[in-house]
Amino acid sequence: MWRPFIAITALLNLAGAFRDSEPTGEWPTELYRTSSVLGTSVYSVRSNAACKDGLYTFLSPRGEGVAARGPTILDQEGELVWTSESTTIGAAYNLDVQEYKGNQYLTFWEGDDKLDGHGRGTIHMLDQQYIKRYEIQGPTGASADFHEFRITRDDTALFTIYETVSVDLRAVRGPERGWVWDSRFVEIDIETNEVLFDWRASEHFNVTDVERPSGSPGWSYGDPWDFFHLHSVDKDAKGNYLISAVHTDHLTYLNGSSGDIIWRLGGEHSDFEDLSEGRGSTFAWPHDARFQDGDKKITLFDNTTPGDKVNRGLLLDVDQSSMKVSIRSEFRAFGHAGVTPESQPQSDGSIQALNNGNVLVSYGKNGAAWTEFTKMAVPMCHTQFGAISSFGTGNPASYRVRKHAWVGKPDTTPAFELNGYEAAVSWNGATEVGRWVLEGSQVPLPIHHSNPDDADGNDPNPNPNSGKSDNFFSAITTVKRTGFETIINIPFHTDQPFLRVRALDRKGQIIGTSAILPFNATMKGSNSPAGPPSESGSHHPAALIFAGVSAALVLIACIYFFRRYCWAFCLRSCRRARLGRYRYLPGYRGRDEEENWEEYYANGEQEEGLHIATDTESDDSDVEVSELDNPRLSPALLSPALGSRLSWQSSLGSPGSSIGRSVLVRTPSTYSNVSSREKQQ
Ligand SMILES: *[C@@H]1O[C@H](CO)[C@@H](O)[C@H](O)[C@H]1NC(C)=O
Ligand SMILES: *[C@@H]1O[C@H](CO)[C@@H](O)[C@H](O)[C@H]1NC(C)=O
Ligand SMILES: *[C@@H]1O[C@H](CO)[C@@H](O)[C@H](O)[C@H]1NC(C)=O
Repeated sequence: MWRPFIAITALLNLAGAFRDSEPTGEWPTELYRTSSVLGTSVYSVRSNAACKDGLYTFLSPRGEGVAARGPTILDQEGELVWTSESTTIGAAYNLDVQEYKGNQYLTFWEGDDKLDGHGRGTIHMLDQQYIKRYEIQGPTGASADFHEFRITRDDTALFTIYETVSVDLRAVRGPERGWVWDSRFVEIDIETNEVLFDWRASEHFNVTDVERPSGSPGWSYGDPWDFFHLHSVDKDAKGNYLISAVHTDHLTYLNGSSGDIIWRLGGEHSDFEDLSEGRGSTFAWPHDARFQDGDKKITLFDNTTPGDKVNRGLLLDVDQSSMKVSIRSEFRAFGHAGVTPESQPQSDGSIQALNNGNVLVSYGKNGAAWTEFTKMAVPMCHTQFGAISSFGTGNPASYRVRKHAWVGKPDTTPAFELNGYEAAVSWNGATEVGRWVLEGSQVPLPIHHSNPDDADGNDPNPNPNSGKSDNFFSAITTVKRTGFETIINIPFHTDQPFLRVRALDRKGQIIGTSAILPFNATMKGSNSPAGPPSESGSHHPAALIFAGVSAALVLIACIYFFRRYCWAFCLRSCRRARLGRYRYLPGYRGRDEEENWEEYYANGEQEEGLHIATDTESDDSDVEVSELDNPRLSPALLSPALGSRLSWQSSLGSPGSSIGRSVLVRTPSTYSNVSSREKQQ
């Protein structure tokens, strides 16, 4: 009895495997009918309702072989909301939402990033309609770098600049007239571009204080020594600056009027007493350092945890009067993300404290992924935007990943396409659409007349978007918006030769109208697969009754066979799946409270506790970013070099593949050793 059944299942799985054998590349993308943009296709490795807070995710995918790169907004389901349509865009970095004079702006950097780890480009500030309101290029003779762009509480802009300058390098066995890439940051007035504050690392740091160069660079103007590599700048309420740089092992707090060093946190020169046995002030290549909660806390992303190679986000308690620092939370990289390969120095990564207390960590070049943790450092949600095999290559990568509320009201009209009896509609950047209404009209397109008096009887109003033209259109069907592009099945009875789509917001107000397209209703009755079934006229009541009775009998038979042969089996496998998936949950329930958290952390077993949460054993973290049931997934966009490294392996009945869905599962050989070592600690 079972054999034929198993054979059929195996065949179905094999068919799935063949479908799987076409790799979707290290950077899976989505194609749309209505837009030429390529969407970032993400895979949710771990999800939890707690991360669905209505916020949007902001990232800037980049890397060699990344087909379409650009600033990207995703919704909480991971669906594309907006991406830049411009094809001239170089690399994009640092997409963020910031407030300027009470309004929300989308800010990002765009330009040439192939300059020794920094960039020359332009900072854009787009308003909620995606119209560019400000373009910041840097003070005369200098170009904005991508590492930082902050709008301060004083409505000024802070950003980084890299410049080649001459410095005496004899102290590090270099030439007297040596050359360095100087890290500079400026604070400017956004309206006038006036420079309000200007700081250069070479004027405040001794070359002996930073990481020693390997080899002896700095001998010529063309080969400057990248001695500092500034990453982040934050300004506090006192007007002083907190900076982080790759080649210093500490964060530095700078006097906002003189630029002098007030204190250093971390490394050999730390001015703080570390109450966390050195773990709170030993970091390498710190990134994205910000004050939180006034100036009582600091968040930063640490590229290399002491003792292992796993990245971490840190939330530090910092007492600037007694000069003491301690770890409040440590957010260790989840799964395979954020594992620094031995072979190459890594960079980038971010940490963001969200308003609800959760913390968002992204891993830069170490992993095309981001993780949302609770404040107790339990990873709640983990999302990948590249294959695990790409981790550590920076291809793709996003310098930072942020989450913010955002309202996008593009000043464009919805894009609308017809294909047989399917209508496709999208609206790049629109966040407010709840439903789409397909409307039809019997009369020809309202034609625009320069003089309304010339209009004939059929066309009393030339403007298709004005109230009067609405008289021609009637609603055919209404569907919920689904992702970036919504496909509407046109009902077969539709006979109007002209169609358009209108966007309704969540309250039912009309917020946008597409162009009007001609619809070929004569396809009715043809044998084309996209056409309607041939209509058989009126149905005989006896035929209907017969069909109903047969259907009921078949259903009863199905239930009988299902209960008899599959019930026990299903129950068993369901139970197994549930245990595996939720194993990490019981550990932290009820321990969310702030006061409990301290205790929980101080407890010697906290590593164990955290460990269960970051356990990589579960199959879900090995799942590749390839949900092949995504009908919009584009074919492989691979450079040949990358393609040869791919060794896809289909999963037959693995617990990672949920019923009816094929997913690719591959154990990443490069990092599995590291992960298992991590597990044993
Ligand atoms: C740089 O070195 C000189 C001499 O060793 C020292 O006096 C000075 O304080 C140092 N400056 C900084 C910013 O560390
Ligand atoms: C910052 O520098 C100014 C002027 O150089 C000085 O008056 C002030 O005390 C300094 N502040 C701190 C906190 O060191
Ligand atoms: C409409 O579809 C029919 C049947 O497929 C075809 O013969 C006809 O040429 C089409 N008309 C237009 C205007 O495309």
